[in-house]
Amino acid sequence: MNERLPRIKTALPGPEAQKVLALDRQYVSPSYTRDYPLVAERGRGMIVEDVDGNTFLDFAAGIAVVSTGHCHPDVSRAIQQQAETLIHMSGTDFYYPLLARLAEKMAQITPGAFPKKVVFGNSGTEAIEAAVKIARYYTRRQRLIAFFNSFHGRTCGSLSLTASKAAQRRGFGPLLAGVHHAPYPNPYRCPMGDAPGGCDGACGCRDYIEQRLFRTVAPPEEVAAIIVEPIQGEGGYVVPPPGFLARLREIADRYGIVLIFDEVQCGMGRTGKMWASDHWGVAPDIVCVAKGIASGLPLGVTVARADLMNWGPGAHASTFGGNPVCCAAALETIRLLEEKYIANAARVGEYLLARLAEWPARHRLVGDVRGKGLMIGIELVRSQRTREPNPEARQRVIERAFHQGLLVLGCGDSTIRLMPPLIVEPDQADFALEVLERCVSEAEN
Ligand SMILES: Cc1ncc(COP(=O)(O)O)c(C=O)c1O
Repeated sequence: MNERLPRIKTALPGPEAQKVLALDRQYVSPSYTRDYPLVAERGRGMIVEDVDGNTFLDFAAGIAVVSTGHCHPDVSRAIQQQAETLIHMSGTDFYYPLLARLAEKMAQITPGAFPKKVVFGNSGTEAIEAAVKIARYYTRRQRLIAFFNSFHGRTCGSLSLTASKAAQRRGFGPLLAGVHHAPYPNPYRCPMGDAPGGCDGACGCRDYIEQRLFRTVAPPEEVAAIIVEPIQGEGGYVVPPPGFLARLREIADRYGIVLIFDEVQCGMGRTGKMWASDHWGVAPDIVCVAKGIASGLPLGVTVARADLMNWGPGAHASTFGGNPVCCAAALETIRLLEEKYIANAARVGEYLLARLAEWPARHRLVGDVRGKGLMIGIELVRSQRTREPNPEARQRVIERAFHQGLLVLGCGDSTIRLMPPLIVEPDQADFALEVLERCVSEAEN
């Protein structure tokens, strides 16, 4: 299984895959959203092999997780060595070197030249929960401001911030009180309907927090934190207009509010810089990291300004958070990202975006192409004039791509997201675009 491009040998799903699907249907939670029946057996680099021996080119990376590709030999080695040395100890009650070393590394590489402290969990949602608790504890304020179309996780605290799809919240209330949502500026489609094209940084979104929320429902002296994805992920791979993050920084500073960046999906080199917020040079008070940090092992990290973490023993902890094996995988992942893969993400991302820039002129289904590095969204629309989303076409394209050996996922109402491992090479990018373009053309006819 060391080919560079995929090969489909059976009808999909194949006979072995069908057995797993039957078992899964019987026993696994129906809350999972599977767009197509991929049943994975093994993965190497950019390639995933299914249980019937079909291989696929992975442009989904386990939802932006396997940043160094599947089973990178250096990461697998680090995991194996650590698994033979010490699997678990619980950093909440004992010490071990890897936890302190990873904390030091995270403090060094996250934005902001100030002292920092780090708390560990096992997932993105836990990283967000910790950030919210730090902000509330430090400010002794309760209200939180998040953004429409944002995704911050599914535990009850982070779900209160998530405002992506009603299905994610339906039936689970009441959630946290005191959470308010503001429009996230979208250069393709202004959520306030103000700017004729999309948000230009000067539309109604710009002053919504100060002029609407602070004046009506959320007095600023009661607001603990503003939580934002520097580039929106599940919401549609939306890159905000320049000035958006700086404006949030300004508001946070003016009112003593903690600014939290959720870099769970857009961080760890995915955008061609270590952090998406590096594209605008704005540093938050707290940054939340997960997904790509450990190449597939579960790890959530919350990095805060040291003075914000003024809580005492017992205030917050997690039994497994920062497990030694996950820390070893993270340190090796960061080494590889810094050595070569962030630069690769920038290079191949630019190449992909340059080729994709022609698509709206070539394909009436393609309304917009946007992104940074290897975080790229292709939005499908019913009409380029009305910009009405076209979720059915998106689903058709994603399913057809699977049958031609390419794994992609959707986000937002009708966007296809490209989020390959950061090791992807130009010939694999070419293959992915050829498949996708064929699928888009088929969906147009
Ligand atoms: C931006 C963002 N924040 C938080 C999360 C939650 O992460 P997890 O699924 O690891 O809890 C996600 C997951 O998709 C995400 O994209």
